[in-house]
Amino acid sequence: MPTQIPNIIYDNHGRPITYLRLAVTDRCNLRCFYCMPEVGVKYLPKSKLLTYEEMLRTVSVLSELGISKVRITGGEPFVRHNMIDFMYQLSEIEGINELNITTNGILTGKYIRQMKEMGVRAVNLSLDTLDKKRFFEIARRDEFDIVYKTLFDLLDAGFEVKVNAVVMDGKNTKDILPLVELTRNHKVSIRFIEEMPFNGEGAHYPKLEWNLHRILSEIKSKYPDLQKLTDSPNSTSYNYQVPNYQGNVGIIAAFSRTFCGTCNRIRLTATGDLKTCLYDDGVLNIRDLLRSGITNEDLKNTFLQVFKNRPKDGFEAERGRKSVISESMTTIGG
Ligand code: GTP
Ligand code: 5AD
Ligand code: SF4
Repeated sequence: MPTQIPNIIYDNHGRPITYLRLAVTDRCNLRCFYCMPEVGVKYLPKSKLLTYEEMLRTVSVLSELGISKVRITGGEPFVRHNMIDFMYQLSEIEGINELNITTNGILTGKYIRQMKEMGVRAVNLSLDTLDKKRFFEIARRDEFDIVYKTLFDLLDAGFEVKVNAVVMDGKNTKDILPLVELTRNHKVSIRFIEEMPFNGEGAHYPKLEWNLHRILSEIKSKYPDLQKLTDSPNSTSYNYQVPNYQGNVGIIAAFSRTFCGTCNRIRLTATGDLKTCLYDDGVLNIRDLLRSGITNEDLKNTFLQVFKNRPKDGFEAERGRKSVISESMTTIGG
């Protein structure tokens, strides 16, 4: 991947904006209950989605503004046609030093060699349980075996792998300790995520039963000598390690929103909605701007304005919404 010293832009709270989360599709081949309803999911027509060309142009402009890391998300990224070719093109953009992906692991296996070849270093894999039956209950598809195999194929291929497990009361809390145990012999990061209300159901905003403190207590009940690791500056997770285990364990306080002070992220949804916080409802639509013939210079100035108007945290972003949260994570990309 080509490298360059980026010209970093700081937002109105002094946070550098260096990381773009790019959702390439709203479609998914699972139906995880914390993300979308089992039936009745309405996918967007193709004409509403950003084309690969539009995404490449947008990322090029953003790279000139100091974005150096891109994470591809979805839906499930690999369900979009020719995604791997698009990844190659993204990896060639000057200034994009880090290209990552968050995937559910069903179609991922066959792209391992190509991802290695283009310089992808790290892959985040969504896997909420190590139990085949519970996997089916949560994801509503019988795909555990392939995802589990992909986890080890990715590790064998030398990727840094982070497993994302959303902690759901009454669903997979029995998996917390077995997932930690996986770090004994494998150099993998297991990250437990607080459940957020982006399940596409609307108005379902339950009390969070498993917040970071409860998840940590559960882990410490079996591993009392758990050690705190030093977190990287923009980490979303608080990281720990069981002494002498090869991997490590993280907790992402996605709902408690305790890491907003170091947030370096913006998001582009598959339809081109630009979000400067996960909890906002979109500040403008890039697809419409591109299709109305905006110049790169004007696009850059638009981004600069938006960067100077970011909410200070996810709570402020949520208060600023026009409507309550009802969208599915599959439209946001996490
Ligand atoms: P790294 O680049 O490896 O640090 O990954 P990441 O944590 O940014 O990305 P990933 O796609 O693996 O996200 C894991 C979980 O963290 C998902 O549930 C995301 O929704 C959540 N998450 C990621 N970024 C943010 C954020 O800015 N705010 C909040 N509240 N949650 C986030
Ligand atoms: N709450 C927390 N995390 C979620 N994800 C998807 N939906 C939710 C939710 N409602 C996570 C998935 C995926 C990441 C991008 O977002 O586990 O790994
Ligand atoms: Fe950034 Fe918003 Fe997430 Fe906080 S909640 S870390 S401000 S995206």
